[in-house]
Amino acid sequence: MAYQREFKFVRSWGIALLGSLLPAATLPLTGGCPPPTDDAVDGGLAFNNTTDATNQGAAYVGSAACRACHPSIAETSRLHGHAHALNRVQGQAPQYPPEGERAGVPSPPDGKTWNDVSYVIGGYQHGAFFVDRTGFVMTDGVEGVNTQWNLDFPPNGTVAGFVAYQPEQQTPLPYGHDCFRCHTTGPEPQDPNDPRSQDGRPGILGTWAEAGVQCEACHGPGSNHVPNPQARNIFVDSTVQTCARCHTRGDDPDVIVAADGFIRAGAQYAELRASGGHANFACTVCHDPHFSTIYDRSNGIRNDCRTCHPDQNMARHAGKIFVRGDYAEQLGCESCHMPFATKTTAAADADTVGNNGRMGDTRTHIFRISTDNVDFSSMFTADGAAVAKDGDGRAAVTVDFVCVRCHTDGTATGTNAVRLDVRSASALAAILHETAQ
Ligand code: HEC
Ligand code: HEC
Ligand code: HEC
Ligand code: HEC
Ligand code: HEC
Ligand code: HEC
Ligand code: HEC
Ligand code: HEC
Repeated sequence: MAYQREFKFVRSWGIALLGSLLPAATLPLTGGCPPPTDDAVDGGLAFNNTTDATNQGAAYVGSAACRACHPSIAETSRLHGHAHALNRVQGQAPQYPPEGERAGVPSPPDGKTWNDVSYVIGGYQHGAFFVDRTGFVMTDGVEGVNTQWNLDFPPNGTVAGFVAYQPEQQTPLPYGHDCFRCHTTGPEPQDPNDPRSQDGRPGILGTWAEAGVQCEACHGPGSNHVPNPQARNIFVDSTVQTCARCHTRGDDPDVIVAADGFIRAGAQYAELRASGGHANFACTVCHDPHFSTIYDRSNGIRNDCRTCHPDQNMARHAGKIFVRGDYAEQLGCESCHMPFATKTTAAADADTVGNNGRMGDTRTHIFRISTDNVDFSSMFTADGAAVAKDGDGRAAVTVDFVCVRCHTDGTATGTNAVRLDVRSASALAAILHETAQ
């Protein structure tokens, strides 16, 4: 097992980083994070096919086939949100692994039964939408009831329940390729000359090979690999591009798309590119692609902050535990450096973060903190549609997202952190790392 982990480190460092961005000398590397070695490539650990995503025109065989020979990867991947990005419904609530503590959609929108639903989109991390039997996405405007299900999210006080989704939508909303392409394996848009729909449901404008982001979404179709695995002819791409194609919001990865004072979901690639020191990292430097970060964090994150920043202290928060009512959070580097500046489905209200605190439901990958005495409005461009950047293309999060979501004012109840406003937080932020704790 230990060998397996180290093997993976070497592979990802070798493939993703070797010879590119990090002169080994600039990184204070420790035992847990071996420096890139030539062995990673010359020793035969490199993958054979890193260019042909079609695997020589192969066909999709489905993840059950992969499971037969790769049972441990299949087992850990079962916990990943990828596997549950789109869920087939057959007369009963979709099933999620029990380890996904917050996951689950107990009932369809009011007045509907599970027989009225063909697919649930998500329902694993933050929220869910429903596709009806004819393949249209349910909206409030058409159904006359709330159609978005939000999961519990204790960090920002969200309690599970239905909320409004597209009340202005008066006609049935098709489930288009622009919507399912990142939630399925082998997605195909509709060909105008041969307009096919998944399962023959007219509202679905195209087809897919398998629901959810399964093995072949990243490795390409497997029909040539299965009969002849020793040829090692299946596609493996450890670069950022494997993930970027779905973790990009909008068309331009140089724009971190925002709305209503929050970053919009799925913008991780654009955020990372604007993160200064991490801008050229592949996602797989930190993430193991086969383990969930949300529900299996210790395996999902293969290189933690301290692996590469061993000398950085905890900015006077070592061992501190934040408490708000029933919610408790052990302070880590990401409590400050990856604040919840993104809103996927729900943001905190003033009872939770006070009038000046700011909190969505998804951690940002900007990492840099602005110590300026400014609030969130200066984190975004004047029109609010994107995150603002400096002359070097770097973004930074403001202290209302970073500090004041815990150090709230008097409108929030039951917290154990002293009250700070934006001004006092920004002054303290600039000196927090200076003492060794
Ligand atoms: C019949 C057994 C079998 C099945 C089914 C199978 N694999 Fe494999 N796979 C293997 C073996 C064995 C290797 C290692 C080959 C070697 O290193 O000689 C391998 C290697 C791989 C690799 C690494 C390739 C490389 O260049 O090192 C990937 C990725 C992979 N499989 C993905 C998949 C996916 C995705 C599926 C389902 C579409 C799948 N496998 C189905 C047996 C199988
Ligand atoms: C460009 C790729 C992409 C497209 C297109 C896309 N999504 Fe997503 N979606 C994502 C990613 C990535 C996430 C995870 C986001 C995160 O955690 O920041 C996500 C998350 C979600 C979630 C939350 C899932 C959960 O378990 O909490 C829902 C619901 C969702 N998307 C619905 C939709 C709908 C509806 C559409 C079409 C209108 C759509 N998505 C189009 C990439 C995409
Ligand atoms: C989100 C993209 C993604 C998905 C989904 C995915 N993989 Fe991978 N896989 C990768 C990447 C990237 C690598 C390269 C090595 C690394 O960074 O860990 C890899 C490496 C591998 C390898 C070779 C190295 C190893 O860890 O043994 C095998 C075998 C493999 N994947 C099989 C699978 C199977 C089977 C599934 C489905 C259960 C799957 N993968 C799903 C991205 C993915
Ligand atoms: C085909 C589109 C697609 C690709 C490729 C993809 N993702 Fe995702 N990813 C999604 C969607 C959609 C979600 C939200 C799924 C949900 O929770 O319902 C998601 C969720 C996640 C999550 C949070 C869920 C969890 O359980 O931890 C992480 C972390 C993640 N992706 C990392 C990656 C990395 C790293 C890569 C590249 C190796 C990658 N993704 C490639 C579409 C994709
Ligand atoms: C420098 C390390 C690092 C890099 C590079 C990185 N991540 Fe992460 N990511 C993390 C850590 C750490 C977490 C989990 C923080 C926590 O919740 O404890 C995370 C969380 C996530 C989540 C879940 C966020 C949430 O709150 O729901 C997604 C999705 C994700 N990463 C996707 C990506 C993608 C896609 C890339 C590449 C574009 C990427 N990450 C690159 C370290 C990294
Ligand atoms: C794989 C190694 C690696 C990992 C893992 C990593 N970092 Fe870094 N980080 C670097 C490097 C290299 C730089 C750029 C050189 C420097 O500033 O030390 C950097 C820079 C930074 C910066 C300065 C950003 C800027 O350029 O303004 C911050 C803040 C940061 N990292 C925080 C974190 C946090 C928090 C985590 C964990 C979530 C983390 N890092 C994980 C390697 C890493
Ligand atoms: C209580 C909040 C907090 C915690 C916890 C925290 N940091 Fe920081 N960190 C900050 C602030 C604020 C700054 C910006 C300071 C500045 O620009 O003067 C910063 C700056 C940094 C920088 C950039 C330093 C530079 O010279 O540009 C790095 C790297 C960093 N932190 C890494 C870490 C790591 C690694 C951890 C966990 C061991 C961590 N931080 C924990 C608040 C925190
Ligand atoms: C996740 C919640 C959380 C975040 C984020 C956070 N803090 Fe704290 N902070 C706490 C808790 C809890 C304590 C300990 C309270 C106690 O012991 O009474 C604390 C203590 C402190 C202290 C007193 C330290 C000491 O030496 O006793 C200062 C100053 C402080 N925080 C400033 C900040 C600033 C500035 C930021 C943003 C850069 C920040 N905090 C981010 C929760 C947080």
